[in-house]
Amino acid sequence: MHLTREEEKMYQGEYGPAIEKSMEILVALGDIYGAEGMVEIVSAQISGVSYKTIGEAGLEYLEDLAREGAQVKVPSTLNPAGVDLDNWKDLNFPREFAQKQLQIVESYREMGISTTCTCTPYLVGNVPPIGSHIAWSESSAVCYANSVLGARTNREGGPGALSAAICGITPNYGYHLDENRFPNLLVEVETPLNGSDYGALGYFVGKTVGDGVPYFKLKNKLQDRPTVNDLKALGAALASSGAVALYHVENITPESKDALLHVDKLEKLPITSEDLDETRKNLSISDEKPDLVCLGCPHASLEEISRVAKILSGKKLENQLWVCTSISVKAASDRMGYTETIEKAGGHVVCDTCMVVAPIEEMGFKVIGVDSAKAANYVPSMCGLDVVFDDWENLIALK
Ligand code: F3S
Repeated sequence: MHLTREEEKMYQGEYGPAIEKSMEILVALGDIYGAEGMVEIVSAQISGVSYKTIGEAGLEYLEDLAREGAQVKVPSTLNPAGVDLDNWKDLNFPREFAQKQLQIVESYREMGISTTCTCTPYLVGNVPPIGSHIAWSESSAVCYANSVLGARTNREGGPGALSAAICGITPNYGYHLDENRFPNLLVEVETPLNGSDYGALGYFVGKTVGDGVPYFKLKNKLQDRPTVNDLKALGAALASSGAVALYHVENITPESKDALLHVDKLEKLPITSEDLDETRKNLSISDEKPDLVCLGCPHASLEEISRVAKILSGKKLENQLWVCTSISVKAASDRMGYTETIEKAGGHVVCDTCMVVAPIEEMGFKVIGVDSAKAANYVPSMCGLDVVFDDWENLIALK
């Protein structure tokens, strides 16, 4: 691939080993995917944070990079870690795991990366403008950035996104190019959608479309248009059962007008309410009552937390409840009194982590209740636990 004179110097090690190592990764990725050159990025979002997923080898890699003086060149945020970084003791996270986790996050901090630890960076200020090039690696956030914000990123791996952040560039291929942003499947949804329907829809379509680009025509009336919360659930599910990085929703997502020009020639996939019910059933592998209900996949918005607080107000929970979110959203939740209401009912607003990347299998839970198709997909494989998928109001048990 073509490198500019400056990029060549970075590649040859003139700016030190951290940049050299990172350029090697970017050039290798560019060669594999046939990029002609690099493109400058304005934002990075880096996965590979939980000690559960990167282990000792990942920790050593990050400590080496930090020791070599690696510094990010663009605003960069982190994906969820394996523990609540401030409250891991109170929430009974395993001590040894938590200590390793803190070391990982410290290495990232030393490199200048905001330790926001969230998969919804777009809710906490990492909001790249339409048309900008970025390197994000959390698959649900990639989907949101491409589809809802109209920014441009491939589904980066953790090391690819970190290297891009350190060098300020990424190989220019895939979703960075106009020609790869058009739809190749028309999804006609024949029933209005609500709540966890969006996750079920995403899961169903992701399986069919694989790494394609679906274009959704919805039945919802104008006043029931999908919200930010619905779109984040849809993208997360599309990206977990398939490898979707970009979708369009008619009249809602920013590139849907251009995409519409291509829709007539596309293969059609009709979706009925029976398809969604069937998907919901298949995602629940247990019919037992969950001992832990875990909401916030992707991380909960303030509005989602407010709805939970409203239902729990003055009540007591029979099962345990985690509402996973970022520390920034929790700060707002604290101020609004939502956290206190949830805690009084016996639940927790848990920061920095989630039901998939936390070591919940070591914390005594057996059956996890989730309202996210992505979480329902990963909890059995990543945690080895049974899962129930439903709207959260059906999962919590109140005294
Ligand atoms: Fe986020 Fe964890 Fe779900 S990283 S998208 S809450 S699996």
